[in-house]
Amino acid sequence: MAKLPIPLSRSFLLASCLLLLLYSALYLLHWREDNEHNLHISNNHVAGGSKVELSDRVLFFNRVPKAGSEMLVLLLGWLQRGNRFTHVRLRSSGPRHLDHAQQADLVAEVANHLANSPTKHISFDQHVHFTNFSAYGFENPSYVNMLRDPIEKIASRFYYARATPRPGGYTPSWTKPAKEIPPYSSLEDCMASGHPLCTYSTGRQYDLTIPYFCGHQPYCRELGNSAAL
Ligand SMILES: *[C@@H]1O[C@H](CO)[C@@H](O)[C@H](O)[C@H]1NC(C)=O
Repeated sequence: MAKLPIPLSRSFLLASCLLLLLYSALYLLHWREDNEHNLHISNNHVAGGSKVELSDRVLFFNRVPKAGSEMLVLLLGWLQRGNRFTHVRLRSSGPRHLDHAQQADLVAEVANHLANSPTKHISFDQHVHFTNFSAYGFENPSYVNMLRDPIEKIASRFYYARATPRPGGYTPSWTKPAKEIPPYSSLEDCMASGHPLCTYSTGRQYDLTIPYFCGHQPYCRELGNSAAL
């Protein structure tokens, strides 16, 4: 397998993509100027009452991991004040695929933030698979995401798991469950060895990009399942 360096031109490409995405995000966030807060959230909505228009007020960045999302989250944070929107970081740990009750909780949490938001427009980020707000009595928010070449993503995860935290750097207070690290120093060696953690076979479930667009059903996480597309 070829080595996976990131040449300068690719960094520029990534930076341009980021800017383009941000521009689109801001375009979405630069909604109409009226400041009316005419939305009333009640439990009826979550229980399947009349649908509430979310797409012109809520931007939901259900960030695909290892695809540069931290940068976009930072930018959203920096730009919120000047652009009159509020950015809310939802849980950064925890499961990415949710059961029905957890999805309902997520929708209710978004609705609650919206009801108490000081600004009309609000953006959220969370590592979470596509959640169909329509199934919970809301219209879907405007979704935005960032993608990365799947092989680079796998390489990034492989090496990230080996990185030692920066000395003196920020250490999150929550602790991740210890993940098994395959005993190879390069992804190429690990794949060539056929180690289970570096093997990808059709029909098995992995932490893929597709479910961030497909949803929480198990088939969305199955490699090569065409129903997920
Ligand atoms: C979302 O849910 C609604 C209502 O259950 C359904 O009609 C719609 O097809 C779903 N959309 C997606 C993208 O799954």
